[in-house]
Amino acid sequence: MKVKKRIGILTSGGDCPGLNAVIRAVVQYSNLRGWEVYGIPRGTDGFIDLVKGDLQIEDLRLHPHGYDLPGVLEGLDVLQFMSGSVLGSLSRGNPKDNRVVDDILEGYLRLGLDALIAIGGDGSLDIIYDLAKQGKWNLIVIPKTIDNDVAFTERSVGFDTARNTVTQALYDLTFTAASHERVIVVQVMGRDAGHLALHAGIAGGADCIFIPELTPKLTTETLRGTCDYIAQLRQHRRKFALVVVAEGVNNLENKHDPHISETLAVLLKEYSTRLYGTGDPRYSNLEHLDTRATILGHLQRCGVPSSFDRILATACAIKALDLIGEECYNRLVIWQNGSVHSKSLEQIMPLIKWCHQEGTCPSPVDPEGFMVRTALSLGTYLGEAHFHPHTTSTLPSSCSLTSNPNSNSILENYSS
Ligand code: F6P
Repeated sequence: MKVKKRIGILTSGGDCPGLNAVIRAVVQYSNLRGWEVYGIPRGTDGFIDLVKGDLQIEDLRLHPHGYDLPGVLEGLDVLQFMSGSVLGSLSRGNPKDNRVVDDILEGYLRLGLDALIAIGGDGSLDIIYDLAKQGKWNLIVIPKTIDNDVAFTERSVGFDTARNTVTQALYDLTFTAASHERVIVVQVMGRDAGHLALHAGIAGGADCIFIPELTPKLTTETLRGTCDYIAQLRQHRRKFALVVVAEGVNNLENKHDPHISETLAVLLKEYSTRLYGTGDPRYSNLEHLDTRATILGHLQRCGVPSSFDRILATACAIKALDLIGEECYNRLVIWQNGSVHSKSLEQIMPLIKWCHQEGTCPSPVDPEGFMVRTALSLGTYLGEAHFHPHTTSTLPSSCSLTSNPNSNSILENYSS
């Protein structure tokens, strides 16, 4: 077994808080072990730069305290405090061009790495696994994504900070919503999974939460349920409401809508006006319902990493290096039951690849899980996938915005 190792590290896919904390821990612990660390810039593209001669091997060497500050802060390693990735990251699909693949593999060889640590999400995992197989790399993957949808790990680096960011945004928006008696629809990231919207929605006191696992698309019933809910809040003198919608929820036509919160805000306005117009006394308080939309966007991917994300990042980094020390390669580091473990990529990749082929999220919110039950038990409206006491009224026929031939529940979606 080779005692002194040469480790490569890269970040791939969308950035998130905590990436730098992983890099810092890898560098620190490697230094203690007498190992060398090389940071590959811009995901796997850094290997290509090496082959093209745009970078030299020594340019990539990472040292502890490599990012020192001047004056009294000299020697402070600021990396764990900063979001983003000092290495840069790459959000691109699978390299289709064989020359690109060849250059990546050649770059890896030139660096003479004993192992590569890739910090990536679900998509990156798939891509880098294929490259690693072709190049016979010794790969360790550390999961990261604010979406928390990497399979087999309870937590991905970045999720906790993003959850705090969204929770804080909901708190802030509460007071402007209240001041103007408005319904504010808040759009939260989560392309395929609703973990972020659900967790932050609960923590931030959202009245309604729509996630793709429970509300794959908006329907007339969703609008009615939301308006019913708001009408009931108003009966109890609560004039404002916060509605959280994950970006993965489709519009009424079952199409992806990058501005789904704006769409929903407009639809709620229209629908509440129609309900008011029916003359039904239950909806008399919906006159001039004022709705607004806020897209939190990439603010969710930045911010100072939370203590949990720093701990998770650090623990994952240490685990990755311990695995490399044992020459136990091709593993996904995971967080389970308050500790770090690992899983064989060989074993888990078939399922992940199958999910990608089917367009299914490998780690969705469990519709029957405790987080959904927690929200429902608060009386939060989660759409029509579950019975909800606020949605028992009959729909006036004048309120149908579109026909809904494809109304499909999450249970149908996930049972196939
Ligand atoms: O996968 C993480 C994520 O933040 C998704 O929630 C979101 O859809 C996507 O990245 C946005 O990516 P981009 O930065 O490429 O717009």
